[in-house]
Amino acid sequence: MKRMSTATVKHPRDVSKPLSGNKHLLRWVEKMAELTKPDSIYWVDGSKAEYDTLCAQMVQSGTFVKLNQDLWPDCFYARSDAGDVARVEDRTFICSLSKENAGPTNNWENPHEMRRKLKGLFSGCMRGRTMYVLPFSMGPVGSPMSQIGVQLTDSPYVVVNMRIMARIGLPVIREIDKDEKRVVPCMHSVGAPLAPGQKDVPWPCNREKYIVHFPETREIWSFGSGYGGNALLGKKCFALRIASNIARDEGWMAEHMLIVGVESPTGEKTYVAAAFPSACGKTNFAMMIPPPGFDGWKVWTVGDDIAWIKPDAEGRLRAINPEAGFFGVAPGTSEKTNPNAMKTLARNTIFTNVALTPEGGVWWEGMTEEPPAECLDWQGNRWTPQIGKETGRKAAHPNSRFTAPAAQCPTIDPAWEDPEGVPISALIFGGRRATSIPLVYQAFNWTSGVYMGATLSSETTAAATGNVGNVRRDPMAMLPFCGYHMGEYFRHWLNMQKSIKILPRIFHVNWFRKDEQGGFLWPGFGQNMRVLRWIVDRAHGRALAQETPIGWMPGYDDIAWKGLEDFSRETFEKLQAFDRDTWHKEVMGHEELFISLHSHLPPEMVYERELLICRL
Ligand code: OXD
Ligand code: MN
Repeated sequence: MKRMSTATVKHPRDVSKPLSGNKHLLRWVEKMAELTKPDSIYWVDGSKAEYDTLCAQMVQSGTFVKLNQDLWPDCFYARSDAGDVARVEDRTFICSLSKENAGPTNNWENPHEMRRKLKGLFSGCMRGRTMYVLPFSMGPVGSPMSQIGVQLTDSPYVVVNMRIMARIGLPVIREIDKDEKRVVPCMHSVGAPLAPGQKDVPWPCNREKYIVHFPETREIWSFGSGYGGNALLGKKCFALRIASNIARDEGWMAEHMLIVGVESPTGEKTYVAAAFPSACGKTNFAMMIPPPGFDGWKVWTVGDDIAWIKPDAEGRLRAINPEAGFFGVAPGTSEKTNPNAMKTLARNTIFTNVALTPEGGVWWEGMTEEPPAECLDWQGNRWTPQIGKETGRKAAHPNSRFTAPAAQCPTIDPAWEDPEGVPISALIFGGRRATSIPLVYQAFNWTSGVYMGATLSSETTAAATGNVGNVRRDPMAMLPFCGYHMGEYFRHWLNMQKSIKILPRIFHVNWFRKDEQGGFLWPGFGQNMRVLRWIVDRAHGRALAQETPIGWMPGYDDIAWKGLEDFSRETFEKLQAFDRDTWHKEVMGHEELFISLHSHLPPEMVYERELLICRL
């Protein structure tokens, strides 16, 4: 029986013809095709025409809905399988040669055993599908800070999302072919082979999922999921888990950080990188609009999720955003909370798991004050505000996403693609904590800043499967992304001090502290500029602060209140309140993490903890 073909939209070139002459690459592609047995092989050139064709094919196959072009030009909508909506941390593995090297915060399996398992899983897994050969560069093509990978995938959804999130196709192949470069091989399958004649589903995936990293051989194998964080392998798998290994070996840092440039009315530009755990507002912070009272100030966006940071010849840290797009959480994003994101995602965007309105638009909770009278929810069921109220069902999945090109951001920094990166003057750690943690404070020095990052904690969100709202330690916001032993990662941070001559200042923020009634004490969003301005001024050594046992803190009068004069001294003091008993408990939480890292924990972390206890 012949397989049913939905692909009547044709490509204008022979897509099976290899676009590269790189022998390693050609051999690997051949070997992987032998293993996975796709119906055909497709070399991705990265062109707009190719993107349009793949999108049109996915509209035909039912994976994509083309949105109303008057409302959402060049935008598409996808609904995932209900069991494939987030990163799967319990199915994510770091298969280093020794278990010790993965450390207690990662899942580990013997790499030989895992290879055997993967061979079984990938054997024939692309039957009835096309295997796309997708070359990509994380970072601007040709930048000395960039890295190249090739993803083999049977998901056209992945190909079009990767075209937004990374630099892909011919320009990358030219780099690969220059000197027979070795690339990071990234194997991906949704794990849903098609039997002859079998009709495909809109979102193929497999209940069994494996997101596997081999750090020594710098390889990624991802099976069973089409969700961004599990399937767009340039992002979390490469730019964080594998890159953190490369960075440790080469003396740089791969961090879960946004990057912004703060411009003062005199034109002074200060770049800052900030680590917040998933779905804690990195995209909002990265696109912040200064509030009234900040005339002449501007915040420029370099990146919203990942920073690769390296000391330059002068010993100053410079950072690039290795990505080319934003894979942002939709719910809560609105003209009020993040107008720059709304402008960024207004066209050429792929929406996943939001709600679909009858006029062919998208909607999510928090997008507008008034929900639509009716829509189809993220699973395709009819949803009305009344149904939502009665059943508690959300129209959009809490981890629904937009994939939008960074270049469309109205505040994209003119230097966002500078191959040398931008100079970093301050690093910020932040978590989502309802109690205990002040709005802002500054570490005493680099080592106490590393301790501050190492003990970062946050309430869990919908970005990963599992319970939402539990406080967990999330060191440097890297708990799900550090590709080796967390204790060694702290050591690498401490070692970095030796190669940095102009040390950035380190800060901690918490926008999410609540009052006794459960209301947020701090208005957040654009008002965070007041905190950011104090941070920038501190980084330049020109703002006042008071010494406390946990770090330097601004007093009420050290913050610029113009435009928010009615924010009371009393509320600010509640926000900044630091309570010795609560902090004693907090330090016990630090101890729990440290015990699990014991033999690899740098002594500096133990000393910092002892010093903190003494000060308390
Ligand atoms: C993300 C995440 O998608 O951190 O950025 O989960
Ligand atoms: Mn992230």
